[in-house]
This record gives sequence, C-alpha cells and structure tokens, in this order.
Amino acid sequence: MPRPILATIHPGALHHNLQHLRAAAADAKVWAVVKANAYGHGIERAYTGLRGADGFALLDLSEAERVRALGWRGPILLLEGVFEARDLELCSRLGLWHTVHCDEQIDMLALHKTHEPHRVFLKMNSGMNRLGFAPERYRAAWTRLNALPQVDEISLLSHFSDADGAPGVAEQLARFERATRDLPGERSLSNSAAILRHAQDAHVRADWVRPGIALYGSSPDHPQHSTTDWQLQPAMTLSAKLIAVQTLQVGDAVGYGSSFVAERVMRVGVVACGYADGYPRICPTGTPVLVDGMRSRTLGRVSMDMLVVDLSELPAAGFGSAVTLWGRADNGAVLGIDEVAACAGTVGYELMCALAPRVPVQVLAAS
Ligand SMILES: Cc1ncc(COP(=O)(O)O)c(C=O)c1O
Repeated sequence: MPRPILATIHPGALHHNLQHLRAAAADAKVWAVVKANAYGHGIERAYTGLRGADGFALLDLSEAERVRALGWRGPILLLEGVFEARDLELCSRLGLWHTVHCDEQIDMLALHKTHEPHRVFLKMNSGMNRLGFAPERYRAAWTRLNALPQVDEISLLSHFSDADGAPGVAEQLARFERATRDLPGERSLSNSAAILRHAQDAHVRADWVRPGIALYGSSPDHPQHSTTDWQLQPAMTLSAKLIAVQTLQVGDAVGYGSSFVAERVMRVGVVACGYADGYPRICPTGTPVLVDGMRSRTLGRVSMDMLVVDLSELPAAGFGSAVTLWGRADNGAVLGIDEVAACAGTVGYELMCALAPRVPVQVLAAS
C-alpha cells in the first residue's frame, strides 16, 4: 500500500475561480498564469479547469510545449520572453507570443530568421525594478521593435508590485499611462490582486488580465481578505491519514526537540505527512488542520515524514482518520492554504509550489 497521503486537484474549483475572475475583469481577456507547473498543480492536471481562459501565460518553453501538446491552439505568452536566441525558433514553430523586456531580446529578434512575424509584449519597468524598460526608454524600444520585419504586433505590458497592499497601483499606472499615451496596441497590467482590488478601473484591467494565485484558490491579499471574501474555491487539497494514536500523560513531550509538553492527559494522532511532502517544517504548534473535517491543531515540530495533531476534542478520531492539511475535507469543510501559509510566515504561493514530487496526485472529475 502507498503511504496514506494524497494531493487532490479540483478542476471544478479552477473553473469557478476563472469565471469569477473573468466577471471581475469585465470585458478584459484573461491569461491563465500557469508558470511553475501551474503553481504546483501540474499543467496537465489544471488544464481541464482552465481551458476556458483566452490564453496561457508561463515562463518555461518546455511548459509552453506541454500546453500545445494538450491541444491548445490559442495564445500562449512567455512572461519573461526568450532567454537565448534559439528560443525564438521554438516561438516561431509553436506560435508563441513573447515578452520583450530588454535590449538583448530585441537584438536576438533582429537576427532571427522567420517567415512568421511574432507578436510581442513590450514590458515596462513602471516601478518594480525587476524586468522591463524604464518609462523614458520605452518609446525608443517600441520604435526599434516596430521597425523589425520579425515583429507584427506590439502589445504593452507592465506588472504591479503593490496591488495587494496599501500603496496600490496608482503610481505605477500613472507612469505607464504617461509613457504609452499615444502608442497603439493592447495593454496588460493586472495580476490577481489588481483584478480583485482595482479592476473597477478600466485602465487597470486594460485589454488582458493575468491572474495566477487566485485561479488556484488562494487570496492574493490574505489576511486582509480571505478566499471566502473573494469567493474563491481551493483548487488543491493536501490530505493524509492518522497512522498512529498516542495518549500523553502530563509532562510527556511530542516530537524532535520536545517542543510541546502535555499539561493534561490527552490523545494525539500521528499524520503521514511531513516536510518531505512539502508541509512547512516551520509551522509551529497550533497550526490549523482538519481531522475528519473538524478543526484541530498541530503539536510540536513537523518531522520529515510525520506530524502530530491534537485529538483532545475529537474522541471519535483514530487510526485511519482523514486529516486535511489544506483544502477541502470530505464533509465540505475548508481549511484555506493561506491560513497554513501564514503560520509558516509565508504565502499560499510557496506552499502550493512546494508540493513534493513524492506525493501522489489525483484529479477529481469536474462536476
Ligand atoms: C508578469 C506576471 N504576471 C502575472 C502574474 C500572476 O500573479 P498572481 O499570481 O499574483 O496573480 C505573475 C506572477 O508572479 C507575473 O510574474
């Protein structure tokens, strides 16, 4: 028998979240961002739930090949563009649209031999200072691209650094608007947070939105808003079973470092999930879990293959009981990945991307 641990992908939730984001973005077209293997869900597994998108946005050329292999004939956008000249051959062959964020990428395009001119998204560094041309250099880059026979259409793109927080998007938006005022082409600016918090402004939602994290059922601005607030459903459940039960006496400790010590007699359960499965080791005593769909908490340190949970209030729980580490339990109760991530001092993105390869994954039939 395999170890009793399982990740479940919910295509129905992906579909729901996509439709919800589409509604929030009014008339904008939607890129489903599926980089990092669909944020750890698996591109092939997520595809059924996301194929109602207008396009797929990702980073790796091999991921683009996988999306084409699934039969997707629509737009695919490389969010970081090409990394070396020969990547352009694959762009030509697979009809990929690609971001252009630096002079070196324009140099490569200028030398590229193709009969099919490319659609490119020219990226502006409007304040995040990762990728893109500074606003004062943007027009020159556009003019250079526009003169290339290898390019047929130029769209305009930037990325917000603070759409999820108080600084918001106004300053970056103003820079982008000023620098692109009379340039033609479709525009794309918004990630999940910008869509959910700012897309009532038509300039923010623009022509294409690019949601990632919200598609997968994690709130982009937790804890200010939960997934319930945003009406998002978890697309991944991580569940395991109790493989042992212990009764602690007063003074008994749990796990490495004996960091939890019982102050009363209590039952605890040992779960077949540890940090080698992608559950964060840093999660302290008290991190929420669901046991048979009922809320409980972890106790002591997370080990490589096991963690321990409190069964004090759950007398019916025992060997074989189902434990939901995040996602949806069989009784419909939900433990948001954001809550667990917060206990680990991180965000839902990191937990879903860190699901370990050794965890078997099933895809629920879409309802
Ligand atoms: C350029 C770009 N667009 C869109 C996204 C999607 O962002 P989110 O997952 O916050 O919606 C990302 C992710 O980091 C990105 O890098």
